[in-house]
Amino acid sequence: MRLLLLLLLLCLGLTLVSARKSKNPVVTSNFDLSRITGNWYSILLASDQKDKIVENGSMRVFVKTMDVWQNGTLYLVYHAKENGVCVEIPMVCDKTENNGEFSLDYDGYNLFHIVETDYINYLMFHLFNSNNGKTFQTMELYGRKPNASSKLKARFVEICGKNGIGAENVLDLTLTDRCLQARESSSALTSSA
Ligand SMILES: *[C@@H]1O[C@H](CO)[C@@H](O)[C@H](O)[C@H]1NC(C)=O
Ligand SMILES: *[C@@H]1O[C@H](CO)[C@@H](O)[C@H](O)[C@H]1NC(C)=O
Ligand SMILES: *[C@@H]1O[C@H](CO)[C@@H](O)[C@H](O)[C@H]1NC(C)=O
Repeated sequence: MRLLLLLLLLCLGLTLVSARKSKNPVVTSNFDLSRITGNWYSILLASDQKDKIVENGSMRVFVKTMDVWQNGTLYLVYHAKENGVCVEIPMVCDKTENNGEFSLDYDGYNLFHIVETDYINYLMFHLFNSNNGKTFQTMELYGRKPNASSKLKARFVEICGKNGIGAENVLDLTLTDRCLQARESSSALTSSA
């Protein structure tokens, strides 16, 4: 009986040790793209051209899912509000020769890359847009859950600052309508189909 208890305690100890070890580290290069697939939520959105991310801005889109196809194409599904209605916007992004970097035609030409991710909690994108000789940049913080810690948000704001986007140009989308309801109803439709 005592031996059994000892073994149980030992097992518990080992479980705790392995749980601590498996805490996912932050990755900033050599991304394993198969691990960015699945559900995401837009948490913070930033741009050096704010009209692109406020109401009716082309970049005010709310991520729903990410998928990586066999040929490396990144397939993103977003929601956006058009005339007060949530519409679904799929985006097909070609990979470039750089790991974690993609291109996309949308409101001009876009080149974006993963800044960092831990796969299980959050991911940051940095995007450069050019259209008719004009350029702007955006940065996105995506979370696996609808909200994120203030620590992570502060870290994102800091990284935006390093890229020349001031805190006044960072929007907290968790305080706005992100089409979460449309997301639930469309997944309900899919699962009942
Ligand atoms: C990747 O595959 C998809 C679907 O099979 C296709 O539509 C797309 O053009 C392909 N992309 C590239 C860069 O080959
Ligand atoms: C956004 O577009 C809608 C519909 O065109 C319009 O009613 C609304 O005033 C616009 N909002 C802003 C901030 O421009
Ligand atoms: C979201 O997280 C922030 C901290 O980043 C917190 O202050 C806020 O209350 C949270 N919002 C909701 C709706 O839980």
